Amino acid sequence: MARRRMIYEGKAKVLFEGPEPGTLVQYFKDDATAFNNKKKGTITGKGVLNNRISEYLMNRLNEIGVPTHFIRRLNMREQLVREVEIIPIEVVIRNVAAGSIATRFGIAEGTPLPRSIVEYYYKNDELNDPMVSEEHITAFGWATIQEIDEIIALSLRINDYLSGLFLGIGIKLVDFKLEFGRLWHESGDMQIVLADEISPDNCRLWDAKTNEKLDKDRFRRDMGNVEGAYQEVARRLGILPEAGPADAPAPDTVQ
Ligand code: TMP
Repeated sequence: MARRRMIYEGKAKVLFEGPEPGTLVQYFKDDATAFNNKKKGTITGKGVLNNRISEYLMNRLNEIGVPTHFIRRLNMREQLVREVEIIPIEVVIRNVAAGSIATRFGIAEGTPLPRSIVEYYYKNDELNDPMVSEEHITAFGWATIQEIDEIIALSLRINDYLSGLFLGIGIKLVDFKLEFGRLWHESGDMQIVLADEISPDNCRLWDAKTNEKLDKDRFRRDMGNVEGAYQEVARRLGILPEAGPADAPAPDTVQ
């Protein structure tokens, strides 16, 4: 088992030092949290599935020219990514009312929104990820107006592409959360790239015909069959990993 230096441990993933400078290894855990860490649990096999699902979606996005941090999947639970400076903003794109927007404005869940809506939340668990505006983002120096413009353009493009991709496999992309980072090139140029992951942990995915939830809301709302829902998304994408002994345990870490 490789010994790796741990860089950062998040709620669902761990980042380790990568094999070359400027790279990191992103390890996907089975741990699940909701409501900013107030609810905790385990979704067996989630890390393996999210590693595959995110690999698949990042590859498709790279193919259409959306820059991402993703390099390649290494094994069942790990992928190699580029080291980026994470912008501390969670970008939420919504197509259909669900979750917090449904509660905030008293809109019935499942109501299509008049157009796609982009929202920003400041990434800070202690503050419960407060919703923020472009004013807050620029005034507090979390990102520049040019960076926000780039983030909106990329987010809308990702939304268009993924909405079509999911519809093709009978899934409605209700909403999702993205994170972006700054990738510094040796020339000194900086590029905004998609980072983190795209998986049923941070998307709302509903069956297009029945509206059955195929995402983390099954965990958040104690609906049962959480594992089955994640597997169904992977199955429809044609990437369900064969069950077998190939699961990779977490590497030993060195401090
Ligand atoms: P919300 O309706 O709870 O605001 O969530 C909107 C979308 O963002 C939903 O697909 C879940 C995702 N999300 C995260 O990935 N992380 C978070 O911390 C929150 C609050 C939402």
